[in-house]
Amino acid sequence: MLRSPMYGSSSLYNRILSFLHGDGYEDRFQRIAARLPADAWVLDVGCGTCHMAALLPAGMRYTGLDLNQRFVADARARGIDARIGDVLDVSSYPEGPTAVVVSDMLHHIVPHEESFLRQLGQALRSDLVICETLTTGSNALQRVAGLLLDNDGFNDFRARLRFHLWGEFTEASLTALLNRAIPAPPPRIECTENPGKVRRGMRFHTLLAHYQGPSGTGAEAVPEQLPGAVE
Ligand SMILES: C[S@@+](CC[C@H](N)C(=O)[O-])C[C@H]1O[C@@H](n2cnc3c(N)ncnc32)[C@H](O)[C@@H]1O
Repeated sequence: MLRSPMYGSSSLYNRILSFLHGDGYEDRFQRIAARLPADAWVLDVGCGTCHMAALLPAGMRYTGLDLNQRFVADARARGIDARIGDVLDVSSYPEGPTAVVVSDMLHHIVPHEESFLRQLGQALRSDLVICETLTTGSNALQRVAGLLLDNDGFNDFRARLRFHLWGEFTEASLTALLNRAIPAPPPRIECTENPGKVRRGMRFHTLLAHYQGPSGTGAEAVPEQLPGAVE
């Protein structure tokens, strides 16, 4: 299946994401890290270029999982524990990590997003963080162009096309999906406008949902309201 050039080069991917989202690209990883205990072992599922690894505090450990062989090989060459794996196969995840992080990945796996989330909820570890970029103000042409740029080469292109034309996540629809798929425990959800750039009327927002399993301890360390949070 065809894939976007962005998914053939780690440096191109990072440059495009920084261009599109400005500070919002790194800000989301910092927000995720702020949710987790200082000694968390993060399993970053759909890790892409493992950009998050460099932004975690020193006491945290990192493992990335992705099907993109180029990204995984580049990350391993930088000394990062990155592994080839299908994120949809939740039962095959390595056992050690205490925190599962899903960053900007849900829109890649439609139409499997609900069953995927349900499995993550059933296999809850100490922490689970779901983080997704939401776009407002885009037109149909921009959404199709965005999909062509974002085509990873192994997901269901037609399902993704339908999703981007008619069913893109909004704050309300993603919150409803999360509540359906993972009815308990209750998550802490925040939705913030990215401090990045506004592009031709399009604005980017980040929705972050944090679940804690029985031994989770991270939420106490988090302030009630992060700066710039949208109610
Ligand atoms: C938009 S990138 C997000 C990368 C990174 N998590 C971030 O926040 O920048 C989505 C990633 O999910 C990966 N991906 C999509 N479907 C996957 C699957 N079924 N198994 C493993 N990785 C997958 C893609 O290869 C891509 O690297």
